[in-house]
Amino acid sequence: MFSQRSLATTLTSQVILRHGLQGPSLSIRRASTGAVNCRIPPTASSYHSQQRGFRTTCPSWSPSAFTPGSVAEKLSLNGKVTVVTGGARGIGLTLAETVAGLGSDVVILDVLQPERELADLEKRYGTRFRYYRMDVTSKPGMDAAFDNVIKDVGRIDNCITSAGLALDKPFLEHTWEESSRILDINVLGSFFSAQLAAKQMIKQGNGGSIVMIASIAAHCAIPAQRVSIYGASKAAIKLLGRTLAVEMAPFNIRVNTLSPGFIATSMSQQFTEIQHVFQTTPPLGRIGTPEDLALAVAYMLSDGASYTTGADIAVTGGLHNGRIDI
Ligand SMILES: NC(=O)c1ccc[n+]([C@@H]2O[C@H](COP(=O)([O-])OP(=O)(O)OC[C@H]3O[C@@H](n4cnc5c(N)ncnc54)[C@H](O)[C@@H]3O)[C@@H](O)[C@H]2O)c1
Repeated sequence: MFSQRSLATTLTSQVILRHGLQGPSLSIRRASTGAVNCRIPPTASSYHSQQRGFRTTCPSWSPSAFTPGSVAEKLSLNGKVTVVTGGARGIGLTLAETVAGLGSDVVILDVLQPERELADLEKRYGTRFRYYRMDVTSKPGMDAAFDNVIKDVGRIDNCITSAGLALDKPFLEHTWEESSRILDINVLGSFFSAQLAAKQMIKQGNGGSIVMIASIAAHCAIPAQRVSIYGASKAAIKLLGRTLAVEMAPFNIRVNTLSPGFIATSMSQQFTEIQHVFQTTPPLGRIGTPEDLALAVAYMLSDGASYTTGADIAVTGGLHNGRIDI
């Protein structure tokens, strides 16, 4: 049995020891009170500065430094390149257009041809649009697609992982094959897309931002749907947002997740018999649109979010908080 104090001491010691094994030495001193004091020697902090390669000091702040105009500037993605998996339609396509509207070039990676003409999109937003066919269940295909992206547009600053598949079926009827496919596309596909993007960002040395699309199903059971393996896949994405955020922070690569609720796209439209549920169960009283997600993602990608990493924004019309009226 652990006393509260000894448990705290043991846990803290373990954390510090792991750090010590992986990287620079850390010293631990137990004060006579039983508390643990940890001192990071200068070698450790310089190790981290080198790893980071970006400013570690807090920028100076004064009230006059902040003007409303600077909000728009901070949201700008001018000169950036954003890759969007699953960007051929639905949420991914709307997010692709959102970042283009903020000045970013866009690369759509999808098994489907984009629903809109790229030439029209280029004309409308004045930025470059590219499409590469990429299946997120094929690692060699993903490697080749990312190689082509770099050859073609030269860099990757942002990545949105939106490719996904849903399955609404009772838990007891899920088959191995269909469950594996959900995990392959939603988890491994997103994981390795983020990895390929991060590797390129690290090569470039300027950091970057990754937004992974999770779901309300990562938070709770949802009305009228039985989405156990889908929810598990999205819970994995939500956790990846946190763990990758910590692991990639030394490279100034921020990783955040978005958890949409019911959103009107081909994915939700396939569930024809429960459309009324999508319209009535969110506390805000309607189904969401892909546009409802746009600013949350724009924020997470932008420099305005330079201190935001490992966050999840749930855009569900309030549904992830539960319901009172039935
Ligand atoms: N629509 C919703 O209500 C809702 C809610 C929460 C989360 N989401 C998530 O948002 C994301 C986008 O969903 P959507 O509603 O736009 O669905 P959608 O079906 O309209 O779009 C999904 C896109 O992913 C692509 N895709 C699927 N399998 C792929 C593969 N193996 N390789 C590459 N691309 C592949 C599809 O071709 C499609 O373009 C998904 O991850 C989904 O799970 C959707």
